[in-house]
Amino acid sequence: MSEQAIKDRIAFLREVIDRENHRYYVLNDPEIDDREYDRLISELKKLEDEHPEFYDPASPTLRVGSDITASFEQRRHRYPMLSLSNTYNTEELLEFDARCRRESGTEPQYVCELKFDGTAISLTYEKGILTQALTRGDGTVGDDVTANVRTIRSIPLKLHGDGYPDFFEMRGEIIMPHASFDRLNREREEIGEQPFANPRNAAAGTLKQQSSQVVAGRGLDSYLYYIVGDGLDFTSHFDAMTRCREWGFKVSEHMRRFNSIEEVIEYINHWDTERKRLPYDTDGMVIKVDDIALQRRMGFTAKAPKWAVAYKFKAERAATRLLSIDYQVGRTGAVTPVANLEPVRLAGTTVKRASLHNADQIAILDIRLGDTVYVEKGGEIIPKVVGVELSSRGSESRPLVYIDRCPVCGTPLVRPEGEARHYCPNSDGCRPQQVGKIIHFVSRGAMDIDGLGEEIIEMLYDEDLIRDYADLYDLTRSQIASLDRMGERSADNIVNAVERSKQTPLGKLLFALGIRFVGATTAVKIADAFGSVDALAAASYDELMAVDEVGDKIAESITAFFASPHNRYLIERLRKAGVRMTAEKREVVSDALAGKTIVISGTFSRHSREEYKAMIEAHGGKNGSSISKNTSWVLAGDNMGPAKLKKAEQLGIEIIDEERFLEIIGGE
Ligand code: IVH
Repeated sequence: MSEQAIKDRIAFLREVIDRENHRYYVLNDPEIDDREYDRLISELKKLEDEHPEFYDPASPTLRVGSDITASFEQRRHRYPMLSLSNTYNTEELLEFDARCRRESGTEPQYVCELKFDGTAISLTYEKGILTQALTRGDGTVGDDVTANVRTIRSIPLKLHGDGYPDFFEMRGEIIMPHASFDRLNREREEIGEQPFANPRNAAAGTLKQQSSQVVAGRGLDSYLYYIVGDGLDFTSHFDAMTRCREWGFKVSEHMRRFNSIEEVIEYINHWDTERKRLPYDTDGMVIKVDDIALQRRMGFTAKAPKWAVAYKFKAERAATRLLSIDYQVGRTGAVTPVANLEPVRLAGTTVKRASLHNADQIAILDIRLGDTVYVEKGGEIIPKVVGVELSSRGSESRPLVYIDRCPVCGTPLVRPEGEARHYCPNSDGCRPQQVGKIIHFVSRGAMDIDGLGEEIIEMLYDEDLIRDYADLYDLTRSQIASLDRMGERSADNIVNAVERSKQTPLGKLLFALGIRFVGATTAVKIADAFGSVDALAAASYDELMAVDEVGDKIAESITAFFASPHNRYLIERLRKAGVRMTAEKREVVSDALAGKTIVISGTFSRHSREEYKAMIEAHGGKNGSSISKNTSWVLAGDNMGPAKLKKAEQLGIEIIDEERFLEIIGGE
């Protein structure tokens, strides 16, 4: 490779990895699997090592990602939360065994556990009481999700028996079992929210919910697998976990102790097939040295213990030919490439189509038409193309040229900075976008217009009877009845349902409008905060940011939506048709807090956070999500984070406690 080619490759890898870190840690929506991610990181590391001239302090190889969310208090881990090095085959396990034997001088015993595919948690117990639960964060600082974790039934709030250390931390995984996951996704689809891609994302997303009531209803579970603390006197990991089980922790019944690596490998092979029968996801096994004195001697690298490794199961994969690529255009204009494959059996089903994600993914894997490709069903529901068999590629093969125009309307595609996907910008004139927006508008959770299925909307569109959702309110009974297979009765029902939808609550209307990034829950919060479409349209960026759950991405999107003349025109037509544009009157107790934006921080003793939020609104105030110059007061409980305290002090914002707050609203 030329110097320039190396430089370009390094820049490309850094960009792809950065974006993936963000998808994984912030959006909880990773696009590439762990193995591919590891491969990219190691390729980048290797290039950087060989070419120190391209050193960059911001390279993703020099930091670990973080799952920190602004709205949780951040706290430092007393002991860093490390990860594990991965192995993918028997040879690598034998190398691990050789290192352990060299260090111990004998045949060490190993504990073999399932590798739970969830989200890591650190639980602090003081005198047998759960006092704190932190997410992994960046390994040094994590989010305080104690209130949410307390709702998980398998986590003991108070330990059983006796003999436990006065102070220690229990580490483990929060998981979402398949049954809870399936139920949650069904519910989300019903109300028009994006389903979670897999149980891991669902568990991580749930733990970061603002409302612990929501968390409590989602059926999370836990497995604990590691204890840390000062002066613990265990000599064996297996014995320690057995004691932890007695104190009430959920320690897996599949944990085993073995005398040799061969037995470990046999156990791993057993679980490679058996795991498919488990009611939750595992993505591998973890092998730990049992003897804690030996663990101490072996120590840690900066990122992981040297006395433990993960073994990652191979996802089930199949080889087949890539016949062609379809480019699908969604409601937002996002283009998704989908592979059409020669049908192949994979994990019990026949696969004909698989996701190709985006242009970068195609370029990274150098996927070409006619290639023999590997498809995998990982944790995701949709199978994906994960690699190419280069040896069976013919000499006439040419790199794939990604489309640069919309496959439907021909408009040149755009790719916003920092995004992996291409978009068709012709949002008001491109069929799948227009039809998609109307389908979204009528869906359950939005305007909920019964009887208007996707097929009917497509027919109405193709008959030129509708172009946008405002057109629905001009449809006549005879127009609908003129469609194929449509009777007078069904036409009547539709007209009536359209009529009824005019009374839809404001939150649902805002969701129905299809403002990017505004989901059903956020829409309700926005409706509560502004009370009408007009107030929202007139809101400044700062006023938008002051709303709970609204960050800069959503604030910008709302501003852009109302800046569009086409959108304003649609709203005027909805208004003329009689669609309600204001919130129903909320129960207002007083206006003691009128004009005040209040940010809640910490934990309270007299009422829950949720109750305080409701009180703020009932007394005419607004709930703010983060401290800014628009904040009037901070309502602070115990354990307010030091960062928040500092910010409030810097901005000169008054901090009030719950007693004072209750005094102001005249309640108790
Ligand atoms: S031990 C210092 N045991 O996998 C000990 N981790 O890929 C560190 N995990 O960060 C962890 N099952 O979140 C351990 N039985 C198990 C595990 C496990 C899942 C997770 C954990 C870790 C990650 C590393």
